[in-house]
Amino acid sequence: MTDAVTGPVTRAPGEALRGYAASVHDREVFGPDAETLPHARAAIAGARRVVVLTGAGMGAESGIPTFRDALTGLWSRFDPHELASVEGFRADPQRVWDWYAERGEGVRRAHPNAGHEALAAWARTHPGRMCVVTQNVDDLHQRAGQPDVLRLHGDILGRRWLDEGRCRERTPCDITAAEPGRPPRCARCGNLVRPGVVWFGEALPAAALDRAQQVAGACEAMLVVGTSGAVWPAAGLAGLARRAGATVVIVNPQESEIDAQAHVRLRGTAAQVLPALLART
Ligand code: APR
Repeated sequence: MTDAVTGPVTRAPGEALRGYAASVHDREVFGPDAETLPHARAAIAGARRVVVLTGAGMGAESGIPTFRDALTGLWSRFDPHELASVEGFRADPQRVWDWYAERGEGVRRAHPNAGHEALAAWARTHPGRMCVVTQNVDDLHQRAGQPDVLRLHGDILGRRWLDEGRCRERTPCDITAAEPGRPPRCARCGNLVRPGVVWFGEALPAAALDRAQQVAGACEAMLVVGTSGAVWPAAGLAGLARRAGATVVIVNPQESEIDAQAHVRLRGTAAQVLPALLART
């Protein structure tokens, strides 16, 4: 198992790196990291199962602000908990609904970037070998045609009831018949419709988290793209994969809190690095 490498490395012996040597183009894209590229390419090419953990940086080149960047302008005067918690929603449903409506409009206007496209293209040409575990609440991986996406933090375009099962009536609240408004309500019991995202203090969707931990523990290569590694349990998936014997490759223009888990660190953006990294694996 190679130690973390960034910049010029002595070539590992054997077939593994042959054919993945850095090209002139690689040096244009990766600079000094071009030397570590063969390790990353060989790890992905040789993996029967590749898990890709993505964070907000994956959508940066599609113009989608990170959660923290979205707290700017008119929204900068609010504490994140006022805008992304059950308590904040109950206190001011209209404010929270408007914030998510504005962010949701941004997602609808955005398009998958070259990084999303490169991942989806690789998954199509290597069926059954790639699973994307995303912390993002947009749908850009799906719109790029990525076949297997696990959403850990929900779906900003999704809707669900604030109080599950609140209706005492025989038939539960019918979200398709919610009374229009901001936010919509159940016409019978007044239950509020909320955005389908995970809020502060809420558990992650158990099925998605269980499967994310299962695939991370069973993969041979993990590609970590555009996450600061600041939020758990998602941040723990890279260490889980490494302990299980996977080669971990981090793609991020800056250092992250989980860089120590990486065997290979590629300093660059998703839309720059992923097409070059995946095109020849
Ligand atoms: N390509 C790749 N990475 C990028 C790019 C890019 N173009 N631009 C920025 N980054 C990196 C940043 O360097 C940073 O490390 O993306 C990361 C974004 O970090 P965060 O904003 O903390 O986003 P994320 O790691 O996804 O946060 C996890 O925290 O904000 C909450 O629930 C929210 O899902 C989010 C979670």
